[in-house]
Amino acid sequence: MFLETERMVLRRFTMADVDVVLALDSDPAVRTLVEDGEPVDRDTVTDMIGHWLGWYQRSEVFGFWAAVEKGTGQFLGWFHLRPPPDAPPDQPELGYRLVSSAWGRGYATEGSRALIDKGFESGQTSRIVAETMAVHVASRRVMEKAGMRHKRTYPTQWPVRLPGDEAGDVEYVITQGEWEAGRA
Ligand SMILES: CC(C)(COP(=O)(O)OP(=O)(O)OC[C@H]1O[C@@H](n2cnc3c(N)ncnc32)[C@H](O)[C@@H]1OP(=O)(O)O)[C@@H](O)C(=O)NCCC(=O)NCCS
Repeated sequence: MFLETERMVLRRFTMADVDVVLALDSDPAVRTLVEDGEPVDRDTVTDMIGHWLGWYQRSEVFGFWAAVEKGTGQFLGWFHLRPPPDAPPDQPELGYRLVSSAWGRGYATEGSRALIDKGFESGQTSRIVAETMAVHVASRRVMEKAGMRHKRTYPTQWPVRLPGDEAGDVEYVITQGEWEAGRA
């Protein structure tokens, strides 16, 4: 187990998770505001999880985590906290994708808060960023509830057009100092 929250366990992925991730990514409701044009098939999901497994070799803190509901053992989706390829190693990005049956119960906020705490408590993090479409109200709300602040809105040119993408993307940030101040 990587992390435990009030209602969830965040654990490492294994190749046994291909089916649940495939089901998650096959849900059109989930893809509405995250569609990237990648095919949703078993090979793609297997490659993706293989990439996620690589993080467990490289870091004790950063990576992709399967979220499981404590009471039921149900797979709820995933969270990530890891530096994107072009970012400094101490500036990870937070992300999340949950099964639609779990939405609206505070799970994304609960997991995000736990990962933000873990990131800063590790001493390996100077700031955490998160990005989403400007029109993605639910994701922006999660970032706000997790203590992040809106830093900028910027135009994007994604290859796949989504309804509302003309409003651009937003970046949210929390620095180590802001995190410490929030706990004082
Ligand atoms: C975005 C997502 C992670 C949110 O997960 P969640 O567990 O439902 O989030 P939470 O319950 O912690 O918080 C959601 C907040 O958004 C609010 N919200 C949701 N939909 C909303 C809408 N259409 N308009 C306004 N507020 C909305 C909720 O009311 C809640 O805020 P509140 O606690 O102040 O009432 C989830 O919907 C998801 O996985 N979507 C598919 C993948 C995705 O879009 N990932 C994010 C990519 S950046």
